[in-house]
Order: sequence, then C-alpha cells, then structure tokens
Amino acid sequence: MASFQFIAAALFLVAAAVCGGSNAQLSPTFYDNTCPNVSSIVRGVLEQAQQTNIRNAAFLTRLHFHDCFVNVIIPSLPGCDGSLLLDNADGIESEKDANINRALNGFTVVDDIKTALENVCPGVVSCADILAIAAEISVVLSKGPSWEVQLGRRDSRTANKAGTSGLPLFNEDLSALKAKFSAVGLDSTDLVALSGAHTFGRAGCLTVTPRLYNYNNISGNVDPTMDPTYAQTLQQTCPDPSTPAGVNTNVTLVNLDHTTANGFDNNYFTNLQNKQGLLQSDQELFSTSGADTVAIVNRFGNSQSDFFTSFAQSMINMGNISPLTGNNGEIRSNCRRVN
Ligand code: HEM
Ligand SMILES: *[C@@H]1O[C@H](CO)[C@@H](O)[C@H](O)[C@H]1NC(C)=O
Ligand SMILES: *[C@@H]1O[C@H](CO)[C@@H](O)[C@H](O)[C@H]1NC(C)=O
Ligand SMILES: *[C@@H]1O[C@H](CO)[C@@H](O)[C@H](O)[C@H]1NC(C)=O
Repeated sequence: MASFQFIAAALFLVAAAVCGGSNAQLSPTFYDNTCPNVSSIVRGVLEQAQQTNIRNAAFLTRLHFHDCFVNVIIPSLPGCDGSLLLDNADGIESEKDANINRALNGFTVVDDIKTALENVCPGVVSCADILAIAAEISVVLSKGPSWEVQLGRRDSRTANKAGTSGLPLFNEDLSALKAKFSAVGLDSTDLVALSGAHTFGRAGCLTVTPRLYNYNNISGNVDPTMDPTYAQTLQQTCPDPSTPAGVNTNVTLVNLDHTTANGFDNNYFTNLQNKQGLLQSDQELFSTSGADTVAIVNRFGNSQSDFFTSFAQSMINMGNISPLTGNNGEIRSNCRRVN
C-alpha cells in the first residue's frame, strides 16, 4: 500500500512537472529577436546598483532562489514565475510577508531593470526571467562563474504565501534540506553547489545565536560542529539574546563567508572544512558523518573551478523548476502587480 501510494505520488509529480511547463521550452536565445539587448541592459542597471550598494549582488541572487522554490501552478510544486515579486493586492497575499522572506532586499533594483527594459522592448521580458538574468550577472560581477541563462519564463497571476514552506530553513538538518531540494528535482550536488551562494551576503544574528548559546538546551554550550575561536568572534557581534545586550540584535548582520564577504569564490567550502560555516544548514553539509555531501564539499573546497562549473549547472537546474511557458501566465508590465 505504502509503495503504491509512493508510485502514484511519483507519477503525479512527473505528470505535474510536464503539464506545469517543461524546461525544454526555455532557451538561451528566447529574446534574440524581440529584445536582443536584454542582457546588456540588465548588466547596466546592476553595475550602477553595485556601486550604490555592494550587497545588491547577493540580494538578487537570493531573489531568484526564493522565487523558484515557491509554486503557484500546483500548490505542491514550486516554480520560477516571478510570484515572489508581487505586492499585496486584491486576491494577492504577498510572498514577501512570509517570515522567511522578511529580510529579502533588491526589489527596487528589479523595478529599475523592468523600467529600463520596458523603455526598449515593452511587454516582452518577464519578471521571472529578469530574476534569472540578474542572478547570473550578479555572480559574474562578483568574480564568479558565468553561464548561459535559459529564458522564456512567463509571470504568474497569483502568489502563494503558504508555498514558501518549500524553502529550506537555517536550522534544518541535512535530511530535511535534501528532502526539500529533492522535492524540486535537485540532488545532493545541487544542494552543495547552490549553498555555495553563501560565499557572499549577510545573515541576521537570529540565524546563528541558537548555535552560540545554550545549544541543545545545555547552558553555555556552543554547537560542537563550530570552531570555538570562530564562535567567540561571532559572540561579540551577536550577544546572547537572553541577556540585555542581545535583546535587539536579531537583525544585526554577520557575513555568511567571514573570509571574503562580498566576493564569489570557493572560500565558503574551505570555511566548512574549518568548521567555520555560519548557519547550521551550511555546516551540516560537511559535519554530518557519512553523508554524501562531505566529499562534494571537499571537492569544491579543493578546486574553485569544480565549484564554478557545478554552480553554473545547478543554477540552470534551479532555474528550470516548473516555469510558466507558452500561453500560461503573462508578461507583467510592473513586476509588483499583475496586469
Ligand atoms: C540550502 C538551503 C539554504 C538555506 C537554509 C538558506 C538560508 C539563508 C538564510 C537564513 C540567510 C540569511 C537571511 C537573513 O538573516 O537575512 C540566507 C542568506 C542568503 N542566501 Fe541562503 N539559504 C539556502 C540556500 C541558498 C541558495 C540556493 C541561494 C542562491 C542560489 C542562497 C542565497 C543566499 C544569499 C545570496 C544570501 C545573502 C543575502 C543578503 O546578503 O541579504 N541561499 N540564506
Ligand atoms: C545595446 O546596448 C548597447 C549598450 O548598452 C548599445 O551600445 C547598443 O547600441 C544597443 N544595441 C541595440 C540594438 O539597441
Ligand atoms: C529546554 O529547557 C527548558 C527549561 O529547563 C525547558 O522548559 C524546555 O522544554 C527545554 N527545551 C528542549 C527543547 O529540551
Ligand atoms: C528575536 O528572535 C526570537 C526568535 O525568533 C524571538 O523570540 C524574539 O522575540 C525576537 N526579538 C525581537 C526583539 O524581535
């Protein structure tokens, strides 16, 4: 019975993935005739944005991820459909209001990109594709790898705030992280490679203090998978939330990669090898004994080019999660609202 249900569920997922828009319809040349300059236009806006705030590259890379892991076609399936960008409106419960999305940034940069594109090729480039292109250019501007971005996604007419539960949490263990990636067709190599996006950007103290104080409810205990010296440094920025000094530091920022905070490189993986990953979800990839992810972390830690090659491929894989294509959805003229 259990195995019958499993097979039935698997068949449903395959059927849903095909109906939901197969990735065969995405193509790197999608805008060649309708908006040939799309890439240089996006790049121009992002170069400016980077000069204003170096953090924008990380912001935009994260937006694509948080868009792709949430679905509006079939509630059980995520999709890269621009749903993340919709503001609250009649019938729209914004995904931005979900707890996990509270710290997202970069939405005004997306607006600037959309405006620049509408000026040159109105009604052509989807907001979902803008996120995919902006993620690639952001990584390149941060000295990371480039890849051929697959294009042709269309924008949703709905949002799915509840569907944000498909996103992984900072305090989840490896089996939970794997399950969430596997649910969208991504394997352990994708999980490790894509986690490498934490080579740049920041996180709030809230996401690390559980590892720094009273870990496992033992007074004064630090997560044993964290290097004690690194923990001491973090404790200075992020005081114990149960003490007066730590009351208002939930949103104080720390670097996800303490060695090269804004550059895109493989130091994230050498940090993990040194027990210096910031989030539990990061360190689990290396510190879970016997896990298949350990060898992948070592491979990327030993070879930046191996990491870059895999990251590029995994970003393409992630960008292929159930897009809307063909006549589904629409091309929004304002990324924050349905037409
Ligand atoms: C593997 C599971 C993942 C978990 C549990 C996770 C969790 C988190 C958390 C908790 C933060 C800090 C949020 C805050 O406190 O403001 C963060 C930041 C970030 N994440 Fe992830 N993430 C994961 C995967 C990814 C992936 C796949 C990408 C992109 C490909 C990504 C890109 C980023 C970036 C760039 C930042 C920094 C954002 C900033 O500087 O504001 N993450 N992530
Ligand atoms: C494309 O953009 C570049 C620079 O942004 C500009 O020099 C070029 O003329 C544009 N080409 C077209 C066809 O619009
Ligand atoms: C942690 O300790 C407190 C106080 O002793 C107790 O109330 C709580 O249930 C414990 N939590 C866990 C997860 O063990
Ligand atoms: C900080 O985060 C914790 C855990 O989510 C929460 O219980 C607490 O209320 C937050 N403190 C403030 C001041 O927001």
